[in-house]
Amino acid sequence: MKNIFFIALISLFAFTGCNQPKPVKTIEDLKAGIKGETTASAKYAAFAQKAREEGNANVAKLFDAASKAESIHAANHKKALEALGEKMEDFKPEFEVKTTAENLQAAIDGETYEVTTMYPQFLTDAKAEKADKATKSFTWAYDTEKKHEKFYTAALASLNANTENTLPTQYLVCPVCGNTYDKAMVDEKCSFCQTDKAKFIEA
Ligand SMILES: [Fe+2]
Ligand SMILES: [Fe+2]
Repeated sequence: MKNIFFIALISLFAFTGCNQPKPVKTIEDLKAGIKGETTASAKYAAFAQKAREEGNANVAKLFDAASKAESIHAANHKKALEALGEKMEDFKPEFEVKTTAENLQAAIDGETYEVTTMYPQFLTDAKAEKADKATKSFTWAYDTEKKHEKFYTAALASLNANTENTLPTQYLVCPVCGNTYDKAMVDEKCSFCQTDKAKFIEA
């Protein structure tokens, strides 16, 4: 009799579990996001090295900071994916390294895509599927990429005008959300996730 009760109880849990719809769109979006952010992180690290070789030290610093930020976004997306009981499959980041001016334009194009198309869609999906962790992770990335786009646009303009020395010389990155600051203009607490500025990292 006791056994029957347990079987009934287990069946009930299993049935309830099956009834919860899997956030299928969010899972696909998280995987695409992990791929995009991991690739961006590797790409910007390579762009930083190229900028240093070309004597563009301040642009290199920006690429270093953005590379760090993207790796934080990838890690946050991965945690959100695993919290949904899913795993990321292996992949190899693919990108091209050109001149620093071209690399900056490629970075602007990538950030623009993320800000205007990718993350707005991901956020719509995650909110509709009530995937809260993913919504938070996508929001932090989305807000950071808006800042990256501005930093890159300013950097390319300076490079073209031969005024690279007017660019920030150091950036700080929030280790929790990837928010990226000009070191000369940090907030007391991260404007996205409220982490104390003492924890910000120099990329
Ligand atoms: Fe970015
Ligand atoms: Fe933050």
